[in-house]
Amino acid sequence: MKALDHKTPPHPKEVILGVLSQSDFISGEVLAKQLGMTRPAVWKYIAQLKEEGFGIESIQGRGYRLKAVPDILYPDLIRQKINTRRFGQKIFHFLRTDSTNIQARSLAADGAPEGTLLVAEYQEKGKGRLDRQWQSPSGKNLLFSLILRPDWPPQQAFYGTVLASVSLCRTIREVAGIEVGIKWPNDLYSGGKKLAGILTEFATDPDRIEYMIVGIGINCNWAPPKPPPEGQPATSLLQETGHKISRLRLLTCFLNQAENLYEKAGNEGVGLLKEEWNRYSLVINRPVTISNNQNTWTGIGQGIDDFGALILRLDNGQQEKFLAGDVRLRF
Ligand code: ATP
Ligand code: BTN
Repeated sequence: MKALDHKTPPHPKEVILGVLSQSDFISGEVLAKQLGMTRPAVWKYIAQLKEEGFGIESIQGRGYRLKAVPDILYPDLIRQKINTRRFGQKIFHFLRTDSTNIQARSLAADGAPEGTLLVAEYQEKGKGRLDRQWQSPSGKNLLFSLILRPDWPPQQAFYGTVLASVSLCRTIREVAGIEVGIKWPNDLYSGGKKLAGILTEFATDPDRIEYMIVGIGINCNWAPPKPPPEGQPATSLLQETGHKISRLRLLTCFLNQAENLYEKAGNEGVGLLKEEWNRYSLVINRPVTISNNQNTWTGIGQGIDDFGALILRLDNGQQEKFLAGDVRLRF
């Protein structure tokens, strides 16, 4: 469960990777000197990196050269590809953890800065709304959480999910070349199936949001084969596009997009997020059914309001607003 917080201080493997990714052949001796390690320590870390799937060529008299990078979401690889000021400037990478949202919560409560990113290859307790389970085998999909400290009133906390949904729609279109749509409140769909989910959690004072955790799971290379009784059919980018999409590229593109939108919303207000959300929404002008344990309503989706409530024009002509809570929406 130990996270590699590669900023304070970076793990030696990270440092070696950083140097290798910026050089051609580099001798073990130079590497050791540059990093302030012994040569046996360098060999040990190189051997570990090879075991993790890095292609590292070693030629006597010339040294080491990085030839291939596995699809592991190492912080240094992420940092090389982002041009953000805050999002992803501090990164925790877990090979295995309970849930990036759970870990993010304790970091945020301890004062972690805005933009702190937590990425996991595997989660033992990945969760959706109301502690429903989020499934994902190790290393196949994208599982991450971002800590935000927006200057929004607590009633607008749902806009964390809106920011993430819109940024994801833009990212997936750019990286995978497919159209995706948002199913209120927190899912992304492609080809009529669930592709990604967002779980936003937050802590508030009476008049401000102390911190917000935006947790995102994207099915890149795996989707649950059979939906659970209450669940929706699922899909992955691999299934939708027919080829493997780089998780690293998706994540870094998302961070760039999301920070951009977040800053714009900070300057201009969340109204612009609402407009973008409406553009990608799968429920606008569509017949939908929404239900909780007691009641079911049917109507035509009209959009979301300033607090993220879904507005439906019911079959009896009246407008009704629904807050996410435990309502479930069906097309
Ligand atoms: P639904 O997904 O049925 O519309 P929901 O969005 O309200 O309901 P959430 O609690 O937000 O449900 O999401 C968790 C649900 O997602 C789980 O109950 C399960 O059905 C489904 N699920 C779990 N893992 C995945 C996955 N990798 N891809 C798609 N769906 C998943
Ligand atoms: C949903 O559809 O209900 C949202 C699922 C959100 C899953 C992501 S995976 C990364 C982060 N950590 C979690 O435990 N959940 C979110």
